[in-house]
Amino acid sequence: MTKNIVAIAGSLRKGSYNSSLISAAQKIGSSLSSKGAEHDLAIEILDISSLPLFDQDVEAAGFPEAAQAMKDKIAAADGVIIATPEYNRSVPGVLKNAIDWMSRPYGQNSFAGKPTLVMGASMGPIATAVAQSHLKQIMLYLDAKVIGQPEIYVGTAHEKFDASGELIDESTTSHLEGALRKLVGWTK
Ligand code: FNR
Repeated sequence: MTKNIVAIAGSLRKGSYNSSLISAAQKIGSSLSSKGAEHDLAIEILDISSLPLFDQDVEAAGFPEAAQAMKDKIAAADGVIIATPEYNRSVPGVLKNAIDWMSRPYGQNSFAGKPTLVMGASMGPIATAVAQSHLKQIMLYLDAKVIGQPEIYVGTAHEKFDASGELIDESTTSHLEGALRKLVGWTK
C-alpha cells in the first residue's frame, strides 16, 4: 500500500536545495516497500508561492481558494514533510506565511495530529539546525506529531547535490531513507 504525503519547501528559488531534498525524498519514498518497508510513500509537493500574504482582513473577506485547496490536501494526507532553508537563523517568511494560513481559520489548524518530518538543507556548516529548531517548536505548538529522530541536517549542500539537483551524497541518501521509514511507521 502507498501512503500519501504532502511536502512543503520553504524556498521559492528554482534551484532550491530544499526542493531538491524533497525530490530526493520522492524518489526514495516511491520504492521503500521493495526494500522491506511496510508502505511506499507518494509525496506531493505543495506550491506555497500561490498563497497571499497572511492578513486577517483577507481571511475575514473569504478564505482564499489557494489556501483552502492546500488545507484540503493536508487533510487528505497521511503525513507532512517540511524542508526549510535557514534565513537569519530562523525559518523563511514564505514558509511561516504558509504555516500561518494552514493554521486558520481559528480552530481548524491543518497540522493537528499529522505525522511530520522536518528537514533542511543549507550551504552553511550548521545546516539549518537553528531554523529547524524554531520550525519544530511551531509545529509542536500546532499539535503536529513531529519526528524527533532521525534529524536531517544537510550542511554544505552545494557539495551534496549535483548541478541538476540530484542528491549525490550516499550517507545523506541513506540517512534520509531512515527518516522516511520512520515516517512510514508513524502513518496510521
Ligand atoms: C541565508 N542563508 C543562511 N544560511 C544559513 O545557514 N544560516 C542563515 O541564517 C542564513 N541566512 C540567510 C538569510 C537570507 C535572507 C538568505 C537569502 C540566505 C543562506 C541559505 O541557507 C542558502 O541561500 C540556501 O541555499 C537557501 O535554501 P534553498 O533556496 O537552496 O532551498
